[in-house]
Amino acid sequence: MATDEHTGLLPRVGGRSSKQRAVWGSLVALLVLATVVLRFDIVPRRAVAGGKRNVIFFVTDGMGPASLAMTRAYAQAQETDTQLRLPTFQMGSMQTRSSSSLITDSAAGATAFSCAMRTYNSAVGVGPDGRPCGTILEAAKLQGYMTGLVVTTRLTDATPAAFSSHVDHRWYEDLIAEHQLGTYPLGRVVDLMIGGGRTHFYGSQDTKYGDGGSRKDGRNLIDKAVEDGWQYVGDMEGFKRLQGGHNASLPLLALLADYDIPFDMDRDDAVHPSLEQEMMTAINALTDATKDSDRGFFLLVEGSRIDHAAHQNDPAAQAKEVLAFDRAFMSAVEFAAKSDVETVLISTSDHETGGLTVGRQVGTAYPDYVWYPDVLRNATHSAEYLAHKLVNVPANEREDYIREKVLEKGLGIDYYSEEDLQELVVSRTTDQILDKLTRMVSLRAEIGWSTHGHTGVDVNVYAFANTGPSWKSVQDALYGNHANVDIGSFLALYLDLDLEKVTDLIKDTKHSP
Ligand SMILES: *[C@@H]1O[C@H](CO)[C@@H](O)[C@H](O)[C@H]1NC(C)=O
Ligand SMILES: *[C@@H]1O[C@H](CO)[C@@H](O)[C@H](O)[C@H]1NC(C)=O
Ligand SMILES: [Zn+2]
Repeated sequence: MATDEHTGLLPRVGGRSSKQRAVWGSLVALLVLATVVLRFDIVPRRAVAGGKRNVIFFVTDGMGPASLAMTRAYAQAQETDTQLRLPTFQMGSMQTRSSSSLITDSAAGATAFSCAMRTYNSAVGVGPDGRPCGTILEAAKLQGYMTGLVVTTRLTDATPAAFSSHVDHRWYEDLIAEHQLGTYPLGRVVDLMIGGGRTHFYGSQDTKYGDGGSRKDGRNLIDKAVEDGWQYVGDMEGFKRLQGGHNASLPLLALLADYDIPFDMDRDDAVHPSLEQEMMTAINALTDATKDSDRGFFLLVEGSRIDHAAHQNDPAAQAKEVLAFDRAFMSAVEFAAKSDVETVLISTSDHETGGLTVGRQVGTAYPDYVWYPDVLRNATHSAEYLAHKLVNVPANEREDYIREKVLEKGLGIDYYSEEDLQELVVSRTTDQILDKLTRMVSLRAEIGWSTHGHTGVDVNVYAFANTGPSWKSVQDALYGNHANVDIGSFLALYLDLDLEKVTDLIKDTKHSP
């Protein structure tokens, strides 16, 4: 039931009347709620304040269907028998292409969601003609909703940027940071930002908030933000003082790393929060701030680095990122199920990355039907982490370091050839090391990758809604196979937003440096 034209919100369903669909819809809704209630002891409330709505929109950057099969096997191989819960909420699937290519990048992918508009690769909140397009987040803010962005990469990276800025090319991150703090025609539209990417908020000579940033103009946007009334949080101590969001003042700017927050696999709880902690802090702060309002909030939550693990072809790091996302999503479901406010959760990916698959032929003989999640379980750190350590080890200590710290302790690989070892010894760049390590792990696990880039396969769409009517709206719009822009159209429809009006308001926004 694909829509062949990509703007239609409702697919035509051959053979089923709308009445039949409605009956099916109610049955499916009941089934999902029953599953949730039975499996997770969640009791949705019936009484919901009229008209007030929250939307939490999740993007699993670069996560395709194979990521879930891989992560499920990885999780179930552990003694604790962790379950992946996200798949329980599957609503349908989605086509990801952009206007310029059958394979999208994250900028066009996110703009399809934020502006409900198909655009060219690298475009951030601008249409195919390069003109700024009004976003869901901006329109929601203008309608009185509170808004937030939560990511594990740079806040100025493509996905959050496409909701909160307008630039011709995703590389213009200095300008994106300015837009996010509200220097363009609408004023400030973001109430809360939690993630990495501090580097684009200050200059290279400036060490007030970090080791030196990368803004070309050297301006300190953090000082400016504080002057303008933002609460700034720059480390874990400050993050803890937010008391899970209940002691936050909005607008809140939490820049918790210069670039990325480390992979969940490498993350130190004392130094960086998990995606779930970031998200719950945002949800609690936005809930408190909208307590007396007749509007709720719109929050974007991105599992940003699933994509990075896939670009690096690191299956162990990706499985851990997916599990961290799964935990965050379930906490949001639990929040929504208990909330008195009508709340809808939508989760999807902008595209698949890596051409990941579980099962790979590793020799000339016809392959056995197996792959080995235990190889992934044996890794204690990502290849990225290990490569950054190894690159700084002096030449005469390298061989021992590789044997003990990288292969045996880091990756849990106890059988490797002299050739493997020598290839690592002579690798001089982190990229070369990283590539060799991820090839060793993937080969042993019999995990396949077709690319270090993105692919054009369809991705899954997941949803949860805490009332019958909201559940029905989600289902009417998103059941089955859809185009990525249909997600944006649904968000606009559900929050009753006029994106064209915003597009008109922002037409003079400066969208290149
Ligand atoms: C609440 O936030 C304020 C301002 O950052 C801080 O001074 C105070 O210590 C925080 N309270 C707690 C209990 O962390
Ligand atoms: C995992 O590590 C253990 C030692 O810690 C080793 O005995 C085992 O062979 C490793 N498994 C795989 C699949 O590499
Ligand atoms: Zn990517």
